[in-house]
Amino acid sequence: MEYDFEPDAGRQEKGLRALLKRRKSAVLLVAEKAGEVLGMCSVQVLISTAEGGRVGLLEDLVVKDGLRGFGIGSALLTEALKWCAFRGLLRVQLLRDAGNGPALDFYTHRGWSGTRLVCMRRRL
Ligand SMILES: CC(C)(COP(=O)(O)OP(=O)(O)OC[C@H]1O[C@@H](n2cnc3c(N)ncnc32)[C@H](O)[C@@H]1OP(=O)(O)O)[C@@H](O)C(=O)NCCC(=O)NCCS
Repeated sequence: MEYDFEPDAGRQEKGLRALLKRRKSAVLLVAEKAGEVLGMCSVQVLISTAEGGRVGLLEDLVVKDGLRGFGIGSALLTEALKWCAFRGLLRVQLLRDAGNGPALDFYTHRGWSGTRLVCMRRRL
């Protein structure tokens, strides 16, 4: 969805399989009905020196087009936060596309706040 990423089904599948192997330090949540996946979300555990302990990185929150606005995204987010709280994580963070206004509203309405951090990266 993000301007900075190019969708690639092969790489995404590889990433999802790797996440599934990290049973203790990552979770993949799906919303499904009759075997059809309607939405998903992932969380990975990182160590934050700022927090002095384990924190979560939330990614991949997406609901199928045409099924948005029915509470599926909220339910996935609630479950993701429960997973984090149950494991004693100290904070959850995510990256959002700067131009994704609907996502900004979505998270803000659910108690998330913005930061002054800006993401930088370098390919290896
Ligand atoms: C952001 C997203 C995951 C939210 O999922 P969702 O199932 O639409 O979420 P909900 O139904 O729980 O809530 C959506 C909010 O938008 C409103 N809404 C109404 N109609 C909507 C529609 N057709 N599409 C999206 N949102 C709608 C809802 O009323 C609700 O408003 P609120 O924040 O005031 O409660 C989903 O819109 C999505 O997949 N977007 C594209 C991917 C994306 O941007 N992901 C976030 C990356 S950081």
